[in-house]
Amino acid sequence: MAKDTLTITDNRTGKTYEVPVVDDTVKAIDLRQIKVKAEDFGLMAYDPGFTNTASCKSAITFIDGERGILNYRGYPIEQLAEQGGYLETAYLLLWGELPTRAQYQEWADDITHHTFVHENVKELMAGFRYDAHPMGMLASMVAALSTFYPDAKKVRDAEIRRKQIHRLIAKIPTLAAFAYRHSMGLPYVYPDNEQGYCGNFLQMMFKTAEMKYVVSPVVARALDVLFILHADHEQNCSTSAMRGIGSSEADPYCAAAGAIGALYGPLHGGANEQVLRMLNEIGSRDKIPAFIKDVKENRNVRLMGFGHRVYKNYDPRAKIIKKMADQVFEVTGRNPMLDIALELERIALEDEYFVSRKLYPNVDFYSGLIYQALKFPVDLFPVLFAIPRMSGWLAQWQEMLEDREQKISRPRQVYTGLERRDYVPAHRRQ
Ligand code: CMC
Repeated sequence: MAKDTLTITDNRTGKTYEVPVVDDTVKAIDLRQIKVKAEDFGLMAYDPGFTNTASCKSAITFIDGERGILNYRGYPIEQLAEQGGYLETAYLLLWGELPTRAQYQEWADDITHHTFVHENVKELMAGFRYDAHPMGMLASMVAALSTFYPDAKKVRDAEIRRKQIHRLIAKIPTLAAFAYRHSMGLPYVYPDNEQGYCGNFLQMMFKTAEMKYVVSPVVARALDVLFILHADHEQNCSTSAMRGIGSSEADPYCAAAGAIGALYGPLHGGANEQVLRMLNEIGSRDKIPAFIKDVKENRNVRLMGFGHRVYKNYDPRAKIIKKMADQVFEVTGRNPMLDIALELERIALEDEYFVSRKLYPNVDFYSGLIYQALKFPVDLFPVLFAIPRMSGWLAQWQEMLEDREQKISRPRQVYTGLERRDYVPAHRRQ
């Protein structure tokens, strides 16, 4: 009978080891017994960038990168985007099931009643320069919330955790909008508890002198769908940062601030901003072949919004966004950059360089075009990724804390430096 084990022969010693295989994985710690000499440390797995290492077990998000499948708690992303809303999706990610009507009412109420921030936050915000990047402001403000809620340290207390979850999901749009208003030199707009999650965010962003900001339902819905698509994506760079920081039992504000920092990078959530900058730089369709040539020849230039560690097929989120763009542009007017993006995609998908590497458009390729049409400034795009990803980060953080197999995150290294040597006083150094 087949056994669920792996037999390893160490050719250095001729010894054989049998290690269990569970869920198609072997435990890296089982390799430690493999030694040449008794005093050896033992074998380790070496995996820079964690390309083939599972850091946790998770029941939240499923991705099949080869087939382009993304499910939250078993529900296909296409169904959630078409029929669901962001707030119920956040509930689903966090608590495992779609809410009943009563549960949803309570949840929406909890979130709505935590949207205000302490007045001192405005003073902190005022300290930033007029041209501060909103992502830097957001990370700082989320970290600052840690000082307003000292109870949040009690991360092992489920009730206290729940309160911080409400606060973080509720306050992140307020902080994001305040960061934007600061950069524009505009007065802050306080939350309007009569609006939905996206409607409230839009009014805090764009309200000027009117008594009540009227939110376009098409715009609010488009944003809601984009928020659903960005809510979680299993163990990506920022989620791993959230789990990693949270594993030391830091409070969720500090952990989320770290996750925002990880998301900011151009290879992750900062890519949506870079796509727009790239499209602007290309400028017109006739310049695309030269740009593609540059990407292929100059390894420092990347086609932003293309490629993914997990998807080796069309990113299902990009498919939904591309389809939605037409509906949005009917209301907002067509973004002229769309033609460049479509042509760029067409050329890249026929080019051997991209085909052989299985590089397809990812979520960031088309999202920026919609954000721009909705009048969001380009440097706010990564912030628009961070707002909905907060629910995913928190769901993963909570799962990590409840997982008895998890420990403080602490990878090993392969030391390549010098052997021990003695200190040389300054006057004797060459
Ligand atoms: N343009 C040109 N070449 C690329 C690109 C690209 N966008 N992406 C990957 N490659 C090449 C890369 O040079 C390498 O070629 P070779 O094998 O000849 O050295 C090969 O494809 C594999 O790339 P990799 O960098 O080893 O792949 P990775 O899994 O480490 O990186 C990635 C994934 C997303 C960082 C990368 O594809 C990338 O930099 N894309 C552009 C930035 C981007 O759009 N990021 C958003 C990701 S989706 C949103 C999210 O973060 O969740």
